Amino acid sequence: ALVVRYRMRSSGRWARVAALLKELEERCATPVGKLRQVADAMAVEMHAGLASEGGSKLKMLISYVNNLPTGEETGLFYALDLGGTNFRVLRVQLGGKERCVLKQEFEEVSIPPLLMVGGSDELFDFIASALAKFVASEGEDFHLPVGRQREIGFTFSFPVRQTSIASGTLIKWTKGFNIDETVGEDVVAELTRAIERQGLDMRVSALINDTVGTLAGGRYHDNDVVAAVILGTGTNAAYVERAHAIPKWHGLLPKSGEMVINMEWGNFRSSHLPLTDYDQALDNESLNPSEQIFEKLISGMYLGEILRRVLLRLAKEASLFGDSVPPKLEIPFMLRTPVMSAMHHDTTPDLKVVGAKLKDLLGIPNTSLKARKVVVQICDIVARRGARLAAAGVAGILKKVGRDTAVKGGESVPRTVVAMDGGLYEHYTIFRECLQATFEEMLGAEAAASVIIKLANDGSGIGAALLAASHSQYRELEQS
Ligand code: GLC
Repeated sequence: ALVVRYRMRSSGRWARVAALLKELEERCATPVGKLRQVADAMAVEMHAGLASEGGSKLKMLISYVNNLPTGEETGLFYALDLGGTNFRVLRVQLGGKERCVLKQEFEEVSIPPLLMVGGSDELFDFIASALAKFVASEGEDFHLPVGRQREIGFTFSFPVRQTSIASGTLIKWTKGFNIDETVGEDVVAELTRAIERQGLDMRVSALINDTVGTLAGGRYHDNDVVAAVILGTGTNAAYVERAHAIPKWHGLLPKSGEMVINMEWGNFRSSHLPLTDYDQALDNESLNPSEQIFEKLISGMYLGEILRRVLLRLAKEASLFGDSVPPKLEIPFMLRTPVMSAMHHDTTPDLKVVGAKLKDLLGIPNTSLKARKVVVQICDIVARRGARLAAAGVAGILKKVGRDTAVKGGESVPRTVVAMDGGLYEHYTIFRECLQATFEEMLGAEAAASVIIKLANDGSGIGAALLAASHSQYRELEQS
């Protein structure tokens, strides 16, 4: 087809911009009635996913964590966290008795993008070598009893079918990782081999998802934590389920009667989700088409990319940035969510920050205030939709566990805490505040007063170390 581009007269241009904005706003709308449908659908899918393997888009993965930290954990433990743009190593000396962390140290390394789509050994070697360097720097104030092996909690934040607390096979990659060889492999075996290649003597004693780590870390500090949500590069949730409410679990009933479930809610999908053409196109062109749809509406990897797509269309069809389309706006993932957040939070009267970001990052000089305002408006529509859907997800979990009302069966529902972590939640203030407000809107003031959403900063790292401790090969020795 022949595309004829013509110079739009200014008034026509702004009318077109307004029309496209209005359409976006309508398509992204999340009135509370719709959010209730999303929460209900989430609860229904949770049931289905627990009933049978493959029973739902929600995998509802069994974590093999049936005891959460008590605060009595003791000893030196390591944790390794792989799953976002960065990867972290951490060591902690646990003092036992009332949640005493004697000392902890960590290091963060960014993962070279090429390693996310290369070979399995390359990725694991990179991780193991950073781990080896970190272990080598262990100081005198950390203590390991003579003759013991160092143990590590491995947080691997992708869908894993666990076969025990310390083994499991990768179901698929998400969030921009794509290494075919690893799919179907035991990721603990992969890491262990890489550790051996480094000549390091270490044992993985727990394999966990970041949501499970956050739940464990959250519980360590607050006994009322029943669920954890990650809002970062990706999004996901884990919660404590009654073991007998998991029909697909055929193993022994744990003594605690409980089992932590990794929902993998990023893969949730429902006809109630407000999907736009922008979302469809983003999904089609992604590394994992038609998967992780909830994640693609909510999480940090995608919000900036949705914004870019909307801006590109406005540039093409309504000359938002003048007669030509800024070439950099055509590059996928050119606009990252932290930049979007910075523009969204711009409080200067002439939107200086927005102007500077558009200029420096996208090479669009001299934007008018009118155009900058449009950019902020799009940030607002896209971020609020994500935050409101995340709130609906949390409401869905609470509904499933019967904590979404203030009173149940004549008795008041106990204090309930949802631990949150991830850069998006931590740093994107408008997103965080909108999530909280929406949550209160959905639950009503009375119920919302007993359900607390709280930031559990790096609960995941400490959580992994705690679970490594409670699943240590020396645990029996400690207790006797
Ligand atoms: C993605 C992963 C999931 C992880 C989440 C947050 O959704 O599939 O396992 O918990 O990102 O990091």
